[in-house]
Amino acid sequence: MVSKKQLQLAYGLAIVLLVVGVGSYAYTALTAKVLDEPVRIQFKSVAGKVLFSHKMHTAETGYGFACFDCHHHPEDDDSSLRACGDCHQGPLEEGVVLESCLDCHEQDDVVDTEITKKGDAFHDQCIQCHQEFEAGPEECSQCHIL
Ligand code: HEC
Ligand code: HEC
Ligand code: HEC
Ligand code: HEC
Ligand code: HEC
Repeated sequence: MVSKKQLQLAYGLAIVLLVVGVGSYAYTALTAKVLDEPVRIQFKSVAGKVLFSHKMHTAETGYGFACFDCHHHPEDDDSSLRACGDCHQGPLEEGVVLESCLDCHEQDDVVDTEITKKGDAFHDQCIQCHQEFEAGPEECSQCHIL
């Protein structure tokens, strides 16, 4: 015979499993959403808006680049799929280290790393690649369209 205590235990366990189940579903949905690549991004700047067709740069039917061709630090790692400006906030004053570096590094190991500001990081990466492939815009007005 099933005692009342055993029954309570079973119900308790069922509820725990339900909570864990819903929780991990929500967690998966959340991480899937965070890692979903954007279709296109509109950057606003003092020089005018820039439209970046993110998906076109990665799709096999587009230009077919790998995520880590651009999301470069750390190499080949999902943790690099984030905003460039999380790290590109330079130039930094001597001795200053960004919080975002300390997630992975010791202060002393990165204190002398030169890190460019966001605008330069974009310009350097976008334009260098367009030059390399002799395709894609290199002139100011071809990117800053509005
Ligand atoms: C041609 C370069 C390039 C490639 C290839 C690329 N990305 Fe991006 N991605 C960017 C840029 C630039 C941003 C904008 C970052 C910012 O706003 O600072 C971005 C933004 C993102 C964001 C939003 C980050 C945030 O928190 O704002 C995610 C997620 C992302 N990319 C995932 C991916 C995935 C997944 C792939 C591979 C399928 C990929 N990217 C391939 C350049 C690229
Ligand atoms: C997690 C931190 C981090 C993120 C995020 C990051 N970078 Fe960097 N980036 C660095 C570090 C550190 C360096 C300098 C050392 C090196 O070359 O790895 C660097 C160097 C560069 C350089 C070479 C120096 C320069 O400015 O010309 C470019 C270009 C660049 N990053 C562009 C980007 C772009 C574009 C994104 C977003 C798609 C991005 N980075 C995201 C950390 C990061
Ligand atoms: C998500 C973890 C992570 C973050 C955040 C991160 N790094 Fe790194 N970093 C790594 C790993 C892993 C390596 C080893 C080589 C690689 O994968 O690039 C590395 C290597 C380095 C190197 C030596 C090799 C190189 O690429 O020049 C420097 C310098 C460096 N990181 C500086 C920084 C700075 C500065 C920041 C913050 C702006 C930063 N890192 C943020 C994980 C990280
Ligand atoms: C790794 C290489 C690479 C990087 C990095 C890159 N691009 Fe491109 N981009 C290309 C290539 C290749 C083409 C042209 C393909 C063609 O015309 O067939 C292109 C085309 C374009 C075009 C014109 C067609 C379209 O898709 O709208 C724009 C605008 C553009 N890129 C913006 C950017 C911006 C902004 C960045 C930086 C945030 C960037 N690209 C970074 C390789 C790159
Ligand atoms: C390949 C596309 C592309 C080209 C070419 C380009 N830009 Fe940009 N520019 C961008 C993107 C992307 C941003 C980033 C906006 C942000 O910070 O979110 C930007 C930001 C800026 C900014 C504001 C941030 C900063 O660095 O002060 C200025 C000013 C600027 N661009 C001027 C120029 C000028 C001048 C030229 C020509 C010499 C030019 N850009 C060429 C894509 C481009």
